[in-house]
Amino acid sequence: MAGKFATPLRGKLAALLFFEPSSRTFSSHAAAVKRLGGQTVEYQQPNTTSSTVKGETLEDTVNVFEHYVDLIIIRHPVMGTALRAAEAAITKPIINAGDGSGEHPTQALLDMFTFYEQYKRLDGLTGLMTGDLLYGRTVHSLVKGLSLFQNNTIFLLSPKNLRFPKELLVHVRRRGMKLVEIEHEKDIPENCHFWYWTRVQKERFSDLSEYERVKHRFVLTSRLIKERADKKTLLLHPLPRVGEIEPTVDSDPRALYLRDEVANGLYVRMALLTLILIKNTQSYW
Ligand code: NCD
Repeated sequence: MAGKFATPLRGKLAALLFFEPSSRTFSSHAAAVKRLGGQTVEYQQPNTTSSTVKGETLEDTVNVFEHYVDLIIIRHPVMGTALRAAEAAITKPIINAGDGSGEHPTQALLDMFTFYEQYKRLDGLTGLMTGDLLYGRTVHSLVKGLSLFQNNTIFLLSPKNLRFPKELLVHVRRRGMKLVEIEHEKDIPENCHFWYWTRVQKERFSDLSEYERVKHRFVLTSRLIKERADKKTLLLHPLPRVGEIEPTVDSDPRALYLRDEVANGLYVRMALLTLILIKNTQSYW
């Protein structure tokens, strides 16, 4: 069985349609498919190299690719596009690899798996999320994901104009999750299980001087860690980072962003692809 276990996606083909730049999400999905014995059709920037240039609709693109592949992984700068793709798709599954400032569900899965690996549970956690909570899709999905479990509390720290979306806040609170908005580093509780730092999303700003003003409002420094973190506080960041983490933090054993968090991006996507594409996963154990 071991050989079969290693290549459950043999004979399967996945399309990666990435209408927006990506390093990790693109490469880890591609690597995951290939490590499992599958193959990929890869389109980076189809908006400059595919029939999209000629005006083809997303729906038509999806319906065409459905004839070629077993699954479509899509990233797009416009919020809601992955949902549109899923509604258009007739026969094949869609994975949302990030839709504008909407969601990034596979990132949430890998982040939650990283917490789970360390704490062996996904409930009763206290965390901090910092940075661009308005446009940052990773935090939207992570908060939603954690709200499926009991007794989680998240402290939200962001510049005033980049606060967590009101509608989502209300939705998640209705599920019983505790979300606490704070304004200063001094309000960070000292017992956090994790800190989740994010970059300010430059590409979502129409006024770049506004971006410049807020981009480094909150920086993760060794000093802040010393002052406010716990011995066990995990330090995560979805990457790319653009100056919001002081380089000295990298050598802190609690900093997982270039270690377990990245590695889990591959493993969790391998698991997800297998679950989606292989009906009877039991036969691979
Ligand atoms: C994030 C994204 O694309 O939303 N990166 C990622 O997928 N790991 C975070 C970001 O771009 O800031």
